[in-house]
Amino acid sequence: MSVRKIHFYKVVDSTNRKAYELAVKGGAHGELVWALSQTEGRGRLGKSWQSPIGTGLYLSILVRPKLNIENYSKITMTAGLAVAKWIEKLCGVKTELKWPNDIYIKGKKCCGILSEGSFTGEESDYFAVIGIGINVNSTLEDFNEEVVGRATSLHLETGLEFDLESLIEPLRDAVLKKISHLEQNKFTEILQEWEKKDFLKGRRLTWVTAGGEIIQGRSRGVDSSGQLLVKDDNGKIHEVISGDVNAILKK
Ligand code: BTN
Repeated sequence: MSVRKIHFYKVVDSTNRKAYELAVKGGAHGELVWALSQTEGRGRLGKSWQSPIGTGLYLSILVRPKLNIENYSKITMTAGLAVAKWIEKLCGVKTELKWPNDIYIKGKKCCGILSEGSFTGEESDYFAVIGIGINVNSTLEDFNEEVVGRATSLHLETGLEFDLESLIEPLRDAVLKKISHLEQNKFTEILQEWEKKDFLKGRRLTWVTAGGEIIQGRSRGVDSSGQLLVKDDNGKIHEVISGDVNAILKK
């Protein structure tokens, strides 16, 4: 196997943006962009991702999987599962997954993933960028008002101090391995593992739809294609493909 390139930056606007540019210039499957800090770290749904120097891992993996276009949406949950299991192995703690791919430890978020795909030109030109942000060495003081009380870090959960660089390759390899399972049509197995970690299953939640409507209901888990199912308070089942979903912290 050829050596997979790691592109390192002290500061970038966003590793996802850099990885996207890399892809457009012909970067290969498995190449990775890692930065010590980001000035415009991007989160889901147009939110920003705070990326102070030294406390977190901010990286993006370029993938060119052998998948039909309709299966690209499964990359997000597949990567989330890979990262969650990798964190468990590294830290010896239990992780949960909040649809579509936030990683939680003891009810607090330690990692967010933003996958972005490009589907222009020939099918062989398609690619996805898997952006991973993990709170690694963060202390409580590192969390701003918006997230304090809802966020945690690997350091806070273990008491350990981690060397960021040594985490990059094992994390990348764990993600690429699960993506290769997806390429081998093993999404059913991936989903079964994912469901065991489903943070929202059975919980009451609010869902802000892409159109801004607020719906309250209860999670019925995910379907076979990875869509979240929400039963609203009038008994109607919704298939959620996007939007902001938040647990009401009472089962
Ligand atoms: C979320 O929870 O909303 C997703 C956050 C994803 C953040 C990571 S940090 C590395 C990569 N580069 C970005 O600009 N975003 C992702």
